[in-house]
Amino acid sequence: MTRSLFPEIRLRFVRFAVPMLLACGAAQAADTQKGRQLYVTYCAVCHGESGRSTMAGAPNFDRGESMLRSDASLLAAIRAGKNANPAFQGILKDREILDVIAYLRTLN
Ligand code: HEC
Repeated sequence: MTRSLFPEIRLRFVRFAVPMLLACGAAQAADTQKGRQLYVTYCAVCHGESGRSTMAGAPNFDRGESMLRSDASLLAAIRAGKNANPAFQGILKDREILDVIAYLRTLN
């Protein structure tokens, strides 16, 4: 009984978990080109097109400010917003925010 269970579990993993991971984008590389377009549309007005901030208090991404942290931590911060930094939850999908983060990492 227990011996025949293992291949069954493996089959389930291949049939369900793998497509689910792909659908979630976990196995997908971030797209910096899309990230750049989103950055120009949603972020550049305050953070500057080149990452040099145009607004007092906004981090300069061209100097890597606020960037010494994981993608997960940045994703949470960008979703939530803080003071004058708008919350992007409901405006951008997580996938899109991750594309923006990948682009931010190219600015410094
Ligand atoms: C209206 C101006 C404005 C826009 C638009 C804006 N930001 Fe900001 N951002 C700020 C300001 C100001 C801060 C500093 C907030 C603070 O610490 O009080 C900030 C902080 C941040 C931080 C650091 C947050 C932290 O918790 O340390 C990140 C990351 C960030 N912005 C990313 C983005 C991204 C990505 C976008 C576009 C999707 C964006 N911001 C759009 C003004 C803006």
